[in-house]
Amino acid sequence: MDYLQITGGTKLSGAIDISGAKNSALPVIAATILSDQPVELTNLPNVVDIRTLLKLLSILGSEVEHNETVATVNNGTMNSTKAVYEIVSKMRASILVLGPLLARFGECEVSLPGGCAIGQRPIDLHLKALEAMGATIEIKGGYVRAEAPEGLKGAKIVFDKITVGGTENTVMAAALAHGTTTIVNAAKEPEIVQLCEMIASAGVKVEGIGTSEITIEGTGQKPLVFKPVEIIPDRIEAGTYLCAAAITNSTVTLNRVNATHIQASIDKLEAMGCSFDINDDVITITSSDRLKPVSLITTEYPGFPTDMQAQFMAVATMAIGESVIEERLFENRFMHVSELNRLGSDIWLKGSVAAVRPVAELYGADVMATDLRASSALVLAGLVAKGVTNVHRIYHLDRGYDNLEGKLSALGANIQRLSE
Ligand code: UD1
Repeated sequence: MDYLQITGGTKLSGAIDISGAKNSALPVIAATILSDQPVELTNLPNVVDIRTLLKLLSILGSEVEHNETVATVNNGTMNSTKAVYEIVSKMRASILVLGPLLARFGECEVSLPGGCAIGQRPIDLHLKALEAMGATIEIKGGYVRAEAPEGLKGAKIVFDKITVGGTENTVMAAALAHGTTTIVNAAKEPEIVQLCEMIASAGVKVEGIGTSEITIEGTGQKPLVFKPVEIIPDRIEAGTYLCAAAITNSTVTLNRVNATHIQASIDKLEAMGCSFDINDDVITITSSDRLKPVSLITTEYPGFPTDMQAQFMAVATMAIGESVIEERLFENRFMHVSELNRLGSDIWLKGSVAAVRPVAELYGADVMATDLRASSALVLAGLVAKGVTNVHRIYHLDRGYDNLEGKLSALGANIQRLSE
């Protein structure tokens, strides 16, 4: 198994390119199922999760050509609608094939994704929405079996809770449904906007893109013909590198970023004393040697993203006062706390709130990655910790960060991938 060895204390400098967004590429790949023609995808991040979903499509009989950041997916040859446990258990987002498979073929079986390290993560809202659209759903033998032999019907779906994946599954299902679907309390993340725009550019009438109420006129099971899709920049990857600059008191430039998508992170880093120079899709951050403490609460877009909580906690360890971080989206997303404390931070947890107290220095140690974003927080802490930090179980990082050690090395960090 690989691990990352980081020798802390080096300042970063220079520029890197931000990759395409994993969380946008996944629903876009799932949405290709709505078509029986080849679809071209560009600016894919070169990460394991993308390979996993493309592999699932190949297993279902699709023709997939994939080379790092580009892929052509032809789901015209798809001859199975069963998303097997072996793949779904590797990546929860595989549940995104449920809506499009059901909408196009009128039936499918998708393994239940189960829990994950950051909490329970049920899919009840996905299933309720599909049932409201006329699907019959049965859970048996660890699989969700969904049927709608006459196709799905448009419906008014009111989500009890804002759900990114639930909104995506419903948008994809609605695109091929008979009649009009209105989604109330929809998620507004940039990834949902890209998915809606992809579907709209195939001629489907989609209203309310980027708002909490999306209306879609379905094609009545007529497959879509997509234009090529270029994946939007990864706002979480960009935010992570901003945090890398912040924690190391450095000046770093990020190319190919959408600053609007990371406004919440920019605002918090500005409040901590960092300054920004933003020009179109290029952002330069300059940190401060006296970072101020931060107070933040995770919430849905455009609020502060839960996927940046762990990285900000790492940065907060270097602030000159006590920071308060509240996690509102996932019940168990603080597993990085005990690992950060192994590096010498002083973080206290009470329920969903963490208090990060100032410490003079962090010290390198062996730490264990527990989930994707928690892992990146450990890498960030390793960049400033005195001595050597070894981050183990980095397969979590490989799921979602494109060439993390390469990009950090290009900025001057002392980081290398080694084998246990
Ligand atoms: C997506 C992102 C993930 C991010 C999360 C929140 C992808 C591939 N993943 O995950 O990186 O952290 O959004 O921004 O895009 N919930 C239910 N029932 C459901 C569905 C969700 O109770 O049927 C709850 C979840 O447990 C969670 C909250 O709703 O507490 C939000 O989850 P959701 O927005 O669905 O997250 P994901 O789409 O799984």
